Amino acid sequence: MQTIAVIGTGNMGRGLAKVLHEAGYAVHLGSRDASRAAQAAEEVGRGVTGLGNTDAVRNVDVVILAIPFEQDNATLRELRPYLAGKIVIDIANPLNASFDGLTTSPGTSAAELTAQQLPESRVVGAFKNTLAAVFDNPVFDGQQSTVFVAGDDEDAKQTVLKLVDSLPFMAIDAGSLAAARTLEHMSVLLIQVSQRQQYNWRAAYRILS
Ligand SMILES: NC(=O)c1ccc[n+]([C@@H]2O[C@H](COP(=O)([O-])OP(=O)(O)OC[C@H]3O[C@@H](n4cnc5c(N)ncnc54)[C@H](OP(=O)(O)O)[C@@H]3O)[C@@H](O)[C@H]2O)c1
Repeated sequence: MQTIAVIGTGNMGRGLAKVLHEAGYAVHLGSRDASRAAQAAEEVGRGVTGLGNTDAVRNVDVVILAIPFEQDNATLRELRPYLAGKIVIDIANPLNASFDGLTTSPGTSAAELTAQQLPESRVVGAFKNTLAAVFDNPVFDGQQSTVFVAGDDEDAKQTVLKLVDSLPFMAIDAGSLAAARTLEHMSVLLIQVSQRQQYNWRAAYRILS
């Protein structure tokens, strides 16, 4: 059984741990506080182990960062040596305080800035447009929502596409890591639409072809 590490015990970390666990993965749920991780893991279910962040990423090949984006992130600084050579999935949307724009400059993205902070890791952007409430019940009237996957390391991106496809989501290759610039703006739109239409955060994208 493959083990995936999820760093962060917030809404996204717990939601991702839940769907990964339900799909048959072992999950290391990491926190800055190991006791908080243990409590969150117990709430999510058997097969999820709560650990301090560094212990969570040891001995795994794929790590999902479910933490807030920061230009200089203390958690990333601490984890950087442990993440060398690993596939790191960045899910961050660098939202402003009013959720109607991004804090990053137009020519970059949280995914690219995270990759700069982890130069020895294979950073792939995914789940940017998956709102946390969706993990409770990921399928909409029999239809899976789209998870766009963006990355410059082709092999790492293919691994993440397969991982997403093994979950109740439809994986689509969105292109290079720079495509995250668009994906992060799409999250702003999704949040705005969800609020305006009163979707109660149960809203998602799906590509039709
Ligand atoms: N919420 C959504 O619908 C949604 C959708 C798509 C993407 N995202 C992205 O997913 C990431 C997590 O979002 P979330 O909604 O799960 O956030 P959240 O509920 O606030 O949880 C974030 C978690 O990150 C950990 N963390 C590590 N460093 C931190 C720091 N400096 N400040 C605060 N927390 C820190 C904390 O876990 P420990 O205290 O256990 O370390 C915290 O519980 C964000 O980058 C967000 O943009 C969110």
